[in-house]
Amino acid sequence: MENELHKRDHTGVQDFVLLEDFTNPEAFVENLRKRFNANLIYTYIGPVLVSVNPYQNFDIYNEEYVQIYRNVNFYELPPHIFAIADAAYRSMRGENRNHCVLISGESGAGKTEASKKILQYIAASSKHMRDVEQVKDRLLQSNPILEAFGNAKTNRNDNSSRFGKYMDIQFDFKGVPVGGHILNYLLEKSRVCHHSDGERNFHIFYQLIAGGTPLLLSKLRLTKDAEKYHYLTQGKSVRVDALNDHKDFNHVKHALDVCDFTAQEQEALFSIVASVLHLGNIRFEENDDGLANITDFSPVENISQLLGCPEGVLQSALQNRTIEAKGEKMKSPLNKDQALYARDALAKGVYDRLFTWIVKKVNDSLNSRKRMKCSLMGILDIYGFEIFGVNSFEQFCINYCNEKLQQLFIELTLKSEQEEYQREGIAWEKVDYFNNKIICDLVEGKPVGIIAIMDEECLRPGEPTDGTFLEKLNLNLGQHPHYVSHSSATDVTARKSIGRDEFRLLHFAGQVTYSIQGFLDKNNDTLFRDLKEAMSQTSNKITSQCFPQAELQNKKRPNTAATQFKTSLAQLMEILMSKEPSYVRCIKPNDYKRSDQFDDQIVHHQVKYLGLMENLRVRRAGFAYRRPYEIFLNRYKSLCPSTWPHFDGTAKEGVEVLVNHLQYSNDDYRLGKTKLFIRFPRVLFATEDAFQLRKHDLATMVQARYRGFAQKKKFQTWKLSAIRLQSHWRRVAAQRLLRRRKQAAERVRGFIKGFIHRLEPECDENKHFIQYTKYNYLTKLKNQLPKNVLDKHWPPAPQLLKETSELLRDLCMRNLTLSYVKSITPARKALMEEKVVAESLFRGKKESYSKSVAEMFAETRLDSTQQDMLCSTFDSKIKEPGEKVQYSAPVTKFDRHGYKSRKRLLVLTDKHLYLLDEKSDLVKDKLPFQQITGLLTSSLSDGLFVITINMDDNGSKENIDGPLDSKGDLILHSDRVIELVTKTVIHGKKSEAFRVISDASITHGISGGKKGCIEFTRGQTSAVKKAKNGNLCVMVAQ
Ligand SMILES: Nc1ncnc2c1ncn2[C@@H]1O[C@H](COP(=O)(O)OP(=O)(O)OP(=O)(O)O)[C@@H](O)[C@H]1O
Ligand SMILES: [Mg+2]
Repeated sequence: MENELHKRDHTGVQDFVLLEDFTNPEAFVENLRKRFNANLIYTYIGPVLVSVNPYQNFDIYNEEYVQIYRNVNFYELPPHIFAIADAAYRSMRGENRNHCVLISGESGAGKTEASKKILQYIAASSKHMRDVEQVKDRLLQSNPILEAFGNAKTNRNDNSSRFGKYMDIQFDFKGVPVGGHILNYLLEKSRVCHHSDGERNFHIFYQLIAGGTPLLLSKLRLTKDAEKYHYLTQGKSVRVDALNDHKDFNHVKHALDVCDFTAQEQEALFSIVASVLHLGNIRFEENDDGLANITDFSPVENISQLLGCPEGVLQSALQNRTIEAKGEKMKSPLNKDQALYARDALAKGVYDRLFTWIVKKVNDSLNSRKRMKCSLMGILDIYGFEIFGVNSFEQFCINYCNEKLQQLFIELTLKSEQEEYQREGIAWEKVDYFNNKIICDLVEGKPVGIIAIMDEECLRPGEPTDGTFLEKLNLNLGQHPHYVSHSSATDVTARKSIGRDEFRLLHFAGQVTYSIQGFLDKNNDTLFRDLKEAMSQTSNKITSQCFPQAELQNKKRPNTAATQFKTSLAQLMEILMSKEPSYVRCIKPNDYKRSDQFDDQIVHHQVKYLGLMENLRVRRAGFAYRRPYEIFLNRYKSLCPSTWPHFDGTAKEGVEVLVNHLQYSNDDYRLGKTKLFIRFPRVLFATEDAFQLRKHDLATMVQARYRGFAQKKKFQTWKLSAIRLQSHWRRVAAQRLLRRRKQAAERVRGFIKGFIHRLEPECDENKHFIQYTKYNYLTKLKNQLPKNVLDKHWPPAPQLLKETSELLRDLCMRNLTLSYVKSITPARKALMEEKVVAESLFRGKKESYSKSVAEMFAETRLDSTQQDMLCSTFDSKIKEPGEKVQYSAPVTKFDRHGYKSRKRLLVLTDKHLYLLDEKSDLVKDKLPFQQITGLLTSSLSDGLFVITINMDDNGSKENIDGPLDSKGDLILHSDRVIELVTKTVIHGKKSEAFRVISDASITHGISGGKKGCIEFTRGQTSAVKKAKNGNLCVMVAQ
């Protein structure tokens, strides 16, 4: 309620207790209208729900609404039938008390719809489990069955309930629906035979004809035309636009299946429905003796076939009546009126008992199979107060029932209000209200109540009639303030308005004038014994059950209909008194079933007779508003700095502080034990307005907090997501790693296997290894190939590639050689050829050879100055014409005498060997090659060599320093002895003169035929010097 308080100016008040002008019915109706126009059909009077029939479907009963109202405090949300259902359900569960919802209102006000919504809420809000679903299904499906057989189109309501219904839903200790039980009250059975213009019989007749398959209809001996049946055409409105009989019949069939009606039972049931229609078509004519004769036997035959009853018996029962007088049975034929009465009585009786049987059958299917203690929640959907043009016995009973319910309502609401004040320790202020007990007593009182007088009249011997009954009423009740008849009326206008066969009751809800006609018959509810016997003999299981033999044998007269009704009402009151009640008061906004019309007068009338003003007055007598301290404090604590945001004391103390802060006057409120009571709505509104203003500030705070909270939540979600992502990624990464490791292990294993089997012929085990080895080796080889012909390294090949390796090596060498060869110039080639000669001369013979191999020979070893000098002097002055210099190099010459060393330049031409003075360019020796007889070197690594000369040949020899023969052999020394000697051998063509002396000494010739000796020794360092013995000593480093 509080949530909606601020909306009050726009849509009226949603709880009438907040209505300022609460004693004014106009203000009450105005509030209802305001809300009706805003499509708000529900309003509270405290805990009572007032519902205005919208005559249009609002989408406010869906699953979403069930969830909104589920477990929410009654006052927290706008009024709704679900809130009532939820409160009832929770109080039943929470307080462990049986509960009941009493729905009242006039015909068409929406009682049945309200009861269905409550059932829908209960079904939707309880748990979904298989066996519970079955129970819920049955509870829900019991409605279409009972509506088909017990509802009819009336001028007020296209789906008017023509019986009273009280349904108990049973819940187990967990609050789960486990079963149900239905009590039915006074079916308007007269409708089977008669109904007013514009009205219809019970729906099932039309549904069967419209929806039955041709096969079913032919079995039931029915045609598809409802107009053919007398009982269906009384109101001349077989078809109703708002109803779809065909579709509804299918629903009923489905519901019968759900509620455990077997195929045989359904067949028997529809046979009875069809039989009632055939009964209506039986016609009588008067014979000469004034007795009734059946004109057409086919309906009788149909009935006997359908119910399994001997045709003769039925026919006789319809035309005769057996009377027992003084122990003797006598058959008395009926006249036409009596026969018609008997026929209709049979039709009504059969249908009424069928309806009771159906309720029993539904109850069997709803009966909880579990034997346990159940909590109960009852829903009472009973006919509302009725005033027709002509009001008969049925209206009398219905209005009596409403008087009883109003009694209960007054008692319970006043009582509970009083109890609440007592409980809370608040002084109770008495409220004046009309107590309708006086009317209830007028109807049911003994010995002078209307029912008692009617019963007495029915039972007395003689010829009681409706007229005599009215006389008795006038006699006994003429003075009663709530009873008026033509004869007892003191006021002329009243007398004129009441017929002589009428009486008027001043009900709490208004005056109703009843026509006395038929009262006694209906009260007697006579069904001739013959017809009962005929029915008890039927083979149809239902009729034989409904008309048991035991009933026939029972000689005791059954209670009259009114007494039965009174008793069942008394039982109902007891049931209701024993339960915690909730109220739904239904109002219809107009008489035309229109969704856009709110007729003040009609609503005003209903408000009055439903006693809503009194209800409100009682509620407001003390205090308009009451709430538990916790709720009040919780809502308004922000209005006081001492209570906001938390109050440390009890809720009551908090509220005390709060109301003092808000400056409530002493008269404005009372503090109960658990609740605060506020007397005037304006006080509450002022508080609420202050709260609405305060809410803006609070909203900003809440917003800020919420934003922070939302951000935090978002962050946490992100963090969580990141962690989740991380962990997933780690898992993926770990899986990949595992896979890689596995693969690697496989590889390694394969590699090892391959290695083990590497020398075997290629097979699965070694195939990859071999390929890998080949690949690996060849790749390595590619990068490590020898760079030149002299580079002899070659990567060692694995066993299985040895041969390949050798082939490749060979190939590679050839290639290198080829390219090397191609790159060699003729000059270089010549030098190399000289090297080859050097090899043949020195290899294996002289120690220093191997060292010399690497260095290429050159054409000159002179430095640039020496060369310049050679060019300038030698070419121009010394060499002979045509002579070509082949080689030049510095050498050391040792004199033959004294072995003095001198620096000389050795020049080889194609004819001579020259020794030139290094400084002066003078020719010191010029030796034609043919004079050279020997070229001697030692086998050691020294640089000394001796050129022996033929001393005898003087022909071409020239000696610049003196004749050669005078000097002897040339002793020369050079670090490039190999090159020097080789060049001399080549240019001088002296290969045969060359000799390596492996002795420790070389003897050389000196001028004059003398001999000198050169000794070779190994020592620490290399040196050439004259030894003490006069020899030249060549010391070779070791
Ligand atoms: N809450 C509602 N929403 C929409 N339509 C409704 C509602 N309540 C009632 N109606 C409409 O009003 C019609 C009459 O309602 P309902 O049958 O419940 O009346 P009733 O009070 O049970 O009447 P009676 O006493 O004749 O059985 C319904 O058939 C439906 O069309
Ligand atoms: Mg109804």
